[in-house]
Amino acid sequence: MPFSISLTVNGQPNSIALDDPRVTLLDLLRERLHLTGTKKGCDRGQCGACTVILDGRRINACLTLAATLDGSTVTTIEGLAEGTELHPVQAAFIACDGLQCGYCTPGQIMSAVGLLSEGHAGNDPERVRELMSGNICRCGAYQGITQAVLEAGQILSQNNTAQSRENGRNAA
Ligand code: FES
Ligand code: FES
Repeated sequence: MPFSISLTVNGQPNSIALDDPRVTLLDLLRERLHLTGTKKGCDRGQCGACTVILDGRRINACLTLAATLDGSTVTTIEGLAEGTELHPVQAAFIACDGLQCGYCTPGQIMSAVGLLSEGHAGNDPERVRELMSGNICRCGAYQGITQAVLEAGQILSQNNTAQSRENGRNAA
């Protein structure tokens, strides 16, 4: 029986009718909402190309049933930039050559955004590699990817410090 879910995607609320409970979030994003930045690599949770942020946590969209997401919030690669201003992680991937063919890149970037917001990576390249290990790159651009995550982490942390100072001044 058809049913519908409420799903906020990149800040946009949607009411989506589903006629098949087996539809994955990945297929919903790509085929129903036409957000094709999220890539389908293996479709079985092994490559990370489909990584998105669901309610603040990174997940593999190919392993997530859309029917379970009523009331949830999803951010995809299309939701990161603000107008023409790239997200610091996107800018760092470009600056550090963190890509070659680019197929894995949306998933790598979303995974990096997730791990930096989790605050676990610090400035340790080995830790970054471990936390990004669910994202496979067939081109082997790992050196640039790790460098990009480290650089983006520094920029985000500087931005957060500047924001805290600004808030402190406003509160005084
Ligand atoms: S397409 Fe989802 S993990 Fe590979
Ligand atoms: S840049 Fe080609 S698969 Fe990663």
